Amino acid sequence: NYMKDDNTSQETNNLISSLPADKDFMGYSLYNYKGCWYYPNTLQAVLDVQDNFRPQKNDIILASLPKGGTTWLKSLVFAIVHREKYRENPQIIHPLLSQNPHDLVPFLEIELYASSHTPDLAKFPSPMIFSTHMHLNALHEATTKSSSSPCKIVYVCRGLKDTFVSGWHYKNMLHRTKMDQASFELMFDGYCRGVTLYGPYWEHMLSYWKGSLEDRENVLFMRYEEIIEEPLIQVKRLAEFLNCPFTEEEEESGSAEEILNLCSLRNLSNLEINKKGTTRIGIDSNVFFRKGEVGDWKNHLTPQMAKRIDEVVEVKLRGSGLIF
Ligand code: A3P
Repeated sequence: NYMKDDNTSQETNNLISSLPADKDFMGYSLYNYKGCWYYPNTLQAVLDVQDNFRPQKNDIILASLPKGGTTWLKSLVFAIVHREKYRENPQIIHPLLSQNPHDLVPFLEIELYASSHTPDLAKFPSPMIFSTHMHLNALHEATTKSSSSPCKIVYVCRGLKDTFVSGWHYKNMLHRTKMDQASFELMFDGYCRGVTLYGPYWEHMLSYWKGSLEDRENVLFMRYEEIIEEPLIQVKRLAEFLNCPFTEEEEESGSAEEILNLCSLRNLSNLEINKKGTTRIGIDSNVFFRKGEVGDWKNHLTPQMAKRIDEVVEVKLRGSGLIF
């Protein structure tokens, strides 16, 4: 429903009519606002986030590209931040065993501000963990206006070829159909041109990359592949960044390993709630879990397609210090 424009105000419609427009591979209109492509409803929600969302002290924001590792990051951060509560009360079932990670860490613009211009955030316990797919410059329009000290932002992204292929499978699972080759190619073309919801993806990555270099204390840049390769190191890095490093005692008792097991694709995807459940925004929980393999693009992209995206990324990231 975020592709439609039934939620947009007159003011936003006026703004939209002045913006560069294009279409996604299914023919839905996308509009470019300050360098990022949105569907009308997404843009409305982003504008509402910018106008009304002001993080409180100690709130945490998880930012990501769609299919860049959002679900994993949500579960890891939730488990890290709340670990004491559940260690001290082993009789309480850990929320990650009974709820989908997306229901524990809501999206700002896809859930909270999608259904209301001014959602009631007081009902969530502090510190609150939010998530977003907004570019950092767009997110800063909200966060830098908060009267509290800057909140921590954790970003995760993934190689753009795997992100694309994951997105393709996601769309197929979401619509419960296997789209044809022509759609695959159209979707890929839009992706390489940057014309895709929240695209261009390389600009998304660059905004957080630069942000993390400028403000190491508050913006952490993570990669899906790194968490796969060296999970323990990355989980400890995450905990340190969030000012809750693992204590010596926790190190000895294997607390970080426990969190990794709890949040593993294997564990989460086999839970009843994630096999059969539906998230609060009405998406089948199982579509968030698939293979989680690095390099799955090799099974789907032709060498020409891989070359095209590699060339785009090489040119766009050149000189930034960010290498993929
Ligand atoms: P694949 O489609 O390559 O398998 P997002 O969470 O941003 O929507 O990204 C979805 C991708 O992350 C999917 O990749 C999915 O399988 C993978 N994923 C989901 N949960 C995961 C977890 N707990 N650990 C590792 N990967 C996970």
